[in-house]
Amino acid sequence: MNMSKRTPFPGAFFPKGLFFLLSLSLLILYSSDADGYQMAFPSSTTEIPHTLMPRVTEVFFVESKIPTIPKGAFVANPQLEKVEFLSTPTVSVEAGAFEGLDSLKDLEIVGTLLTSIPVGVFAEVPHLESLVLKSNQLGGLQRGLFDGLIKLTQLQLHMNSIQSIEDGTFDELKSLESLHLAKNNLTSISPSLFSQLNALQTLRLYENQLTSVPEEVFLPLPNLVEIALQGNQITQLAPRLFPHKDKLRKLSLDNNLLTALPPEYFTGFSLLKTLTLHANQLTGLPALLFGGTPKLTEVRLHQNNLSSLPSGVFSPLTNLKELDLSKNHFETLSSEYFDGIAKLKKLYLSNNKLRTLNANVFEKVTSVTILKLSGNMLENLPEDIFEPLKALIRVDLNDNPWRCDCNFIYLYQWMKDNSKVLTHTPPVVCTFPNDLSGREVISLTEDQLVCPTLAPTTTPLHTTTMPTTAPSTTTMPTTAPSTTTMPTTTTKIL
Ligand SMILES: *[C@@H]1O[C@H](CO)[C@@H](O)[C@H](O)[C@H]1NC(C)=O
Ligand SMILES: *[C@@H]1O[C@H](CO)[C@@H](O)[C@H](O)[C@H]1NC(C)=O
Repeated sequence: MNMSKRTPFPGAFFPKGLFFLLSLSLLILYSSDADGYQMAFPSSTTEIPHTLMPRVTEVFFVESKIPTIPKGAFVANPQLEKVEFLSTPTVSVEAGAFEGLDSLKDLEIVGTLLTSIPVGVFAEVPHLESLVLKSNQLGGLQRGLFDGLIKLTQLQLHMNSIQSIEDGTFDELKSLESLHLAKNNLTSISPSLFSQLNALQTLRLYENQLTSVPEEVFLPLPNLVEIALQGNQITQLAPRLFPHKDKLRKLSLDNNLLTALPPEYFTGFSLLKTLTLHANQLTGLPALLFGGTPKLTEVRLHQNNLSSLPSGVFSPLTNLKELDLSKNHFETLSSEYFDGIAKLKKLYLSNNKLRTLNANVFEKVTSVTILKLSGNMLENLPEDIFEPLKALIRVDLNDNPWRCDCNFIYLYQWMKDNSKVLTHTPPVVCTFPNDLSGREVISLTEDQLVCPTLAPTTTPLHTTTMPTTAPSTTTMPTTAPSTTTMPTTTTKIL
């Protein structure tokens, strides 16, 4: 009486709840439980069967050759709770395709060639809770398309080519909690597009071509937990764009074209945990930017155009653990940038244009365990610069033009004494002087760290090309030339 797990093709049965992978017509089963059956149709299937076995509640068409989902395709199978088309070459869905599916909760049409879906087709499945239409070729969404889906909690429309969405399209989705519109071709959104989505918690709009976001658009959405706007071309954020601050946990703004942020922009978000701002073109930050965001433990500002920061800009972030300022335009840093973030563990300053740092620059961030200074223009560091950093585990110093001369002895000695913090980083090599260029710093001996000295003026030079009273010619350096052109003597200065 029980249905066998293996039935004659074109279908195969599995107890409901099974996960399966299907490749061509090979079925792989993983687990089982439960009261209904799943049935999967492989690529050899060319049409939707009229009648399924009565206890089948979930049906999958995987790479099946189904060009059209015809009207009434499932009328004889009202027990179905889930229908999925995956990577089928489907180009059209007829009006009435899903009629009779009174129990359907879950509909997925994924990876097909569909460019549009007729308005009204989902009105036949009012109990739908999840509608997944990702990875198709939909170009636009029309008003009415989702009307009647008052129980829908999840709508996935990402990875299509959606360029336009008519106003009102989502207006009946009173239960919608998650709306995924990422990776489409939206260049703008209407201010009232989401105005009826009071229950919405997750809104993903990333990787579209939005240049701006209307100021009122999030106002009707008091329950948002996640807003994803990264990977657009947003140049500016309206000052009151995020009016609801108490539930938001994740705000992604990276990979846009932001050059500035309004003052006090990230204040009062009591649950905000993730904020991404990297890969924009921020040239500065307002003095007051953060505040009342106790959960914010990481600030990602890498790949911007920052060359200086207001003193204490991060100080309201008393729980900050990770600060990424790499790939900016800093030439130097002030210790005041790091005021008030004494719990900081990771400080990333790689790939800036740092030339000099003051000895006190890290005096406020004494808990730092990982410090990245690679890819800068540093030739040396002042004595005792690492003194406050008692917890260091790793320091990246590679890819700087280190000048391994007599003034480098502090850093050389520090590296020798703290070789553990360098073990997992690329080797630190000298760039100057020329005769040590390419040599790994810790492979040197201290007496190799020498400075060129000018010969005393009383000592005659052994070369006729270096007269002491030089005629002013542009080819004659007036300051100390490099060691290769001054081979007379070297002295070690301690
Ligand atoms: C949609 O955007 C993608 C990626 O930006 C692009 O390759 C494609 O040409 C766009 N399609 C249309 C119809 O604009
Ligand atoms: C940011 O820096 C890049 C080069 O790193 C430059 O092309 C761009 O114009 C800069 N933007 C601003 C706003 O300064």
